[in-house]
Amino acid sequence: MKRIMITGALGQIGSELVEKLRNIYGQDNVLATDIRPAQDMQGPFELLDVTDAQRMHDLAKDFGADTMMHMAALLSATAEEKPLLAWNLNMGGLVNALEASRELEMQFFTPSSIGAFGPSTPKKNTPQDTLQRPTTMYGVNKVAGELLCDYYFQKFGLDTRGVRFPGLISYVAQPGGGTTDYAVDIYYKAIEQKRYTSYIAKGTYMDMMYMPDALQSIVDLMEADPSKLEHRNAFNVTAMSFEPDEIAASIRKHIPDFQMSYDVDPIRQGIADSWPDNIDASAAEKEWGFKAAYDLDSMTADMLEKLKKKLVTV
Ligand code: SER
Repeated sequence: MKRIMITGALGQIGSELVEKLRNIYGQDNVLATDIRPAQDMQGPFELLDVTDAQRMHDLAKDFGADTMMHMAALLSATAEEKPLLAWNLNMGGLVNALEASRELEMQFFTPSSIGAFGPSTPKKNTPQDTLQRPTTMYGVNKVAGELLCDYYFQKFGLDTRGVRFPGLISYVAQPGGGTTDYAVDIYYKAIEQKRYTSYIAKGTYMDMMYMPDALQSIVDLMEADPSKLEHRNAFNVTAMSFEPDEIAASIRKHIPDFQMSYDVDPIRQGIADSWPDNIDASAAEKEWGFKAAYDLDSMTADMLEKLKKKLVTV
């Protein structure tokens, strides 16, 4: 990776990924693109609607990109509200990014998700290779995307790589429209109000990861020796699995009077219930040395410290 183009650069992952890659590879070697205009971004930025194949191709070509990181997508709850828009954006954007990468011979990364699993998938220690019959539009998009990335590798020799991210937690950009978003929102509310009403029910386990680990996993996978990669795309990665009461208990170690209540949203609860409790990341560990640094308590300590500073200065 020397010249990297990123789509969805202002999104939950993109906004931090741009900064991380610019620190490693140099500010001018990372082209950030998004459908929204950037406020105060240092370094190259272009407006891009990922459904516009020609513009995507032209921007990558003009920049001389050798790597495409396709991050633009609608998350699970929004996709359930607007399934056709999700299909057009998530699949249309992916195909355009793969095509630009094939035509310009770029290395390629896109994230899949725990959303690529469904109710018939084994829920505990979910294997790397298993049944995938998701019941959400987001999941349908993610499974099709995983297969498409494999197809572009097998058919065209395109260097496609990817992971299945769990819920990602960060103090920088808020996710928006996801099912796992409660695990970000809870930290804001803990600091601002010392209370949180969870739309996800007690006892609902989902995999999660702190953003610094997620960003490092992208860099590590992209830098990995390709001869060691048996899977290439859709590697299970995770750092922890918890349910709402457990994250509340972790927060109480810092804010003892934090209170948790529940008002379950049937749509997002239904999505969460269709996903695994915890996935097995051993293929990623074996093939490219994936290892997360943060667990629930170390993430909570860092989140609360960083968020307190951020919320004071806003
Ligand atoms: N965090 C995502 C969501 O909740 C899962 O990939 O939609």
